Amino acid sequence: MGISGSLRDHSSNTHLLRIIGNLLPDNVSFNLFGELHLIPPFNPGDKENEVIVNLKNAISAAQGVIICTPEYAFGVPGVLKNALDWTVSSGEFNDKPLAAVSASPLNSGGDKALASLLLTMTALGARKNEICSLSVPNIKAKLSVEGHLTDASLLHPLQILVDNLLLTIDESV
Ligand SMILES: Cc1cc2nc3c(=O)[nH]c(=O)nc-3n(C[C@H](O)[C@H](O)[C@H](O)COP(=O)(O)O)c2cc1C
Repeated sequence: MGISGSLRDHSSNTHLLRIIGNLLPDNVSFNLFGELHLIPPFNPGDKENEVIVNLKNAISAAQGVIICTPEYAFGVPGVLKNALDWTVSSGEFNDKPLAAVSASPLNSGGDKALASLLLTMTALGARKNEICSLSVPNIKAKLSVEGHLTDASLLHPLQILVDNLLLTIDESV
């Protein structure tokens, strides 16, 4: 399962998720969660609507989750953090194999958002290791607006990330 932290049309992070999906073996299905914009603001005790239930069911059904996110104001986009907060007490991410990516047009690659995301995913109990994350700097020079990779050197680190996630999934079954 893939979750993009960007709602933007032509988002580089959503493009990256699709590219990652294409690196998976043929026998692995990959679904992007496309309803992040419909998740209501988290309020503990509020009744969960259908979209929250869909999110939770999708995480539970997935053998692994890949999150790609931009950095906004040195942090994780509010829409992504908000969605993750809905899972805190129900535990869908507990022991779930995770890969996390940040992509940014800046040299920093969104590393502060990635660090913050990893901290949150630790709190949620996701299964991760030291090579489960990747920050991608200068993303605009590596992807076309339509989402085609224009810098083939990015394929190798993405493949390492995917292989590591598949290994983590194998180890967890
Ligand atoms: C409100 C706002 C705040 C941003 N803050 C940061 C930031 O702190 N660090 C960073 O690397 N990029 C920042 N950016 C630039 C984003 O990384 C850039 O827009 C990126 O392309 C967004 O990812 P996307 O292409 O997946 O939508 C910011 C952009 C916006 C609109």
